[in-house]
Amino acid sequence: MERAQDPLWLAAWLLSVCLLLPPPCLPAAPRADSPWPGHSVAVKQTGTAILRCYLEDDTSKGAWLNRSSIIFAGNDKWSMDPRVTIVSNSAREYSLQIRQVEVTDDGPYTCSVQTQQNPRTAQIHLTVQVPPKIYDISADSVVNEFSNVSLICLATGRPEPVITWRHISPSARDFDSEGEYLEIAGITRDQAGEYECLAQNDVPVQNVRKVRVTVNYAPTIMEIKSPEMVLGREGLLRCEALAVPAAAFQWYRGDKRLSSGRHGIKIQNFSTRSVLTVSNITTDHYGNYTCVAINKLGTSSTSHILHMPSAGMTGNAAVGLLARCWCLVTALSCLASVWQ
Ligand SMILES: *[C@@H]1O[C@H](CO)[C@@H](O)[C@H](O)[C@H]1NC(C)=O
Ligand SMILES: *[C@@H]1O[C@H](CO)[C@@H](O)[C@H](O)[C@H]1NC(C)=O
Ligand SMILES: *[C@@H]1O[C@H](CO)[C@@H](O)[C@H](O)[C@H]1NC(C)=O
Ligand SMILES: *[C@@H]1O[C@H](CO)[C@@H](O)[C@H](O)[C@H]1NC(C)=O
Ligand SMILES: *[C@@H]1O[C@H](CO)[C@@H](O)[C@H](O)[C@H]1NC(C)=O
Repeated sequence: MERAQDPLWLAAWLLSVCLLLPPPCLPAAPRADSPWPGHSVAVKQTGTAILRCYLEDDTSKGAWLNRSSIIFAGNDKWSMDPRVTIVSNSAREYSLQIRQVEVTDDGPYTCSVQTQQNPRTAQIHLTVQVPPKIYDISADSVVNEFSNVSLICLATGRPEPVITWRHISPSARDFDSEGEYLEIAGITRDQAGEYECLAQNDVPVQNVRKVRVTVNYAPTIMEIKSPEMVLGREGLLRCEALAVPAAAFQWYRGDKRLSSGRHGIKIQNFSTRSVLTVSNITTDHYGNYTCVAINKLGTSSTSHILHMPSAGMTGNAAVGLLARCWCLVTALSCLASVWQ
């Protein structure tokens, strides 16, 4: 290391540097001539910072200080930090380069330039930026409908990241909210799904994480229906229910519980519906069918009456029709006798 050759020069000059600085360099230092307007430099963590400074002329000397400690005096390095060097692309340039910038490097740096008359200082604030990083987010949760839900998302970064929340699925009905906490009072089934936490700061890198909220609710039967049921043919009854968790289905005819594989009936369950199939409809199959959907939050049921077709091709239906005709004929003849 090359120390300044002239110790007298160094002493005088350091004293002038000290005079320009606020305490604690020297107590009650009078302010020197107006310093250069200060400015700031923002650098991402682990990046390289260059703090620019220029000398007045070829004979002037410069110094760099980190707060109140000297890093460089002229070309004399006082700091032990291997990351700092002087960058001099021109005769007058006296810039400070800091490689592998760390958060602890954040702060004011002073370039002091010694001249014949006017010692001058420039203060440059080094701002070290850290990209946002979400380090904690609520775990996926399962709640009952109408309960209060509180989600949390925590992030680090410099400057302090801004947290925003978005409801992304399954509905397109996004709602935006800002802050680490997202409070949903009385959550409804359409507020279930994925929530996205977004952390942003000045660094053009954003961090996103998601949390899933499952909302449980009791079954609601949407529909129970059947196409026409014809004797001697296959018939279907379909029952559709919305429920979380998915409902279990039960079928009844009258008050008799039906089971698959008996009386020519097959029951198949799918996630939201149950299908009852009658392979060969007989007169026994007509009646009042009830579909019951059950989950741990409740039960819902709906009934559907399967009528015998009114104008049947079967013997029974023909007999019925004959009987009705007979009634009509007798009624008419009675009426006729009354009017006579
Ligand atoms: C500046 O000073 C701080 C503490 O005062 C230190 O942690 C940091 O490493 C220094 N940075 C440089 C580039 O000298
Ligand atoms: C849910 O929050 C509301 C106000 O936001 C409160 O009145 C209610 O008591 C809370 N319910 C429960 C179960 O904590
Ligand atoms: C339905 O049942 C009737 C009477 O039991 C029988 O005659 C008929 O062949 C059956 N039809 C089918 C498609 O199995
Ligand atoms: C599925 O259907 C069967 C009848 O075959 C019924 O016993 C069972 O409870 C049903 N399961 C669910 C989950 O709905
Ligand atoms: C059908 O059955 C359900 C359940 O047992 C009952 O509530 C309903 O009244 C019945 N419908 C008719 C028309 O009998």
